[in-house]
Amino acid sequence: MIDHLLSLQQKEPSYYTDELIKGIVMVLIIAGTDTMSISMEWAMALLLNHPEAIKKVKAEIDTHMPQDRLLNEEDVPKLSYLQNVITETLRLYPPVPFLIPHQSSEHCKVGGYDISKGTMLLVNLWAIQRDPKIWENPTEFIPERHEERREGGFMMLPFGTGRRGCPGAGIANKVLGLVLGTLVQSFEWERVSEEMVDMTEGRGFSIPKVQPLEGVCKPRQATIQHSLIPS
Ligand code: HEM
Repeated sequence: MIDHLLSLQQKEPSYYTDELIKGIVMVLIIAGTDTMSISMEWAMALLLNHPEAIKKVKAEIDTHMPQDRLLNEEDVPKLSYLQNVITETLRLYPPVPFLIPHQSSEHCKVGGYDISKGTMLLVNLWAIQRDPKIWENPTEFIPERHEERREGGFMMLPFGTGRRGCPGAGIANKVLGLVLGTLVQSFEWERVSEEMVDMTEGRGFSIPKVQPLEGVCKPRQATIQHSLIPS
């Protein structure tokens, strides 16, 4: 990415200044680091508390994948249950629960209310995505609820929407699928004890897990047999 920006700098030095490049790189790191690690942690925590869901992800991977190689990016779109696990994780624990503050550039109406130009708007995504008027058993982890794609509406917006929506949504979904899929493909996972993983949410710009996740894993038979992970 930096190489690409530096080659653009050679063509248009007055626009692609060092400062602009530093700014782009910084915003990508800030916007793309915590969001990803937090989502993975919540997804694994939910999976550990729902062993039947891990079983389903595993069965899906074993059905669609040869046993002698690890998942790659192209395999991820074939794994619809895994995608539903990710969507359900982002519904319950949106890493940016209020989106980024927006400001109305013109006077407008939202939900029948007059909003003056220049008003700051925070979207409470966390509440929308757990709204009992929209979701059945809203606080429960049910990846199957996403099997039927609902058309239209704004009940799921973990990446925001419109012009200022997340430009990393595509890569985020791919990387989340690849990492979670590979973890389930390669290892048997269990909670550290009979006790459920603590799901208390912390405070902050994103929703961190108060207790850092711990789990127990051991390589699966196929992982050892085909030396899928370097020892
Ligand atoms: C699970 C992962 C992620 C989630 C849930 C997420 C979510 C969001 C949300 C909600 C916004 C604000 C949208 C709005 O206000 O309407 C945003 C903005 C942004 N995201 Fe992401 N994001 C994720 C990963 C990433 C990654 C991996 C990158 C880059 C590699 C990235 C880059 C950005 C940037 C640059 C913006 C600012 C866009 C702008 O202001 O125009 N995000 N993201």
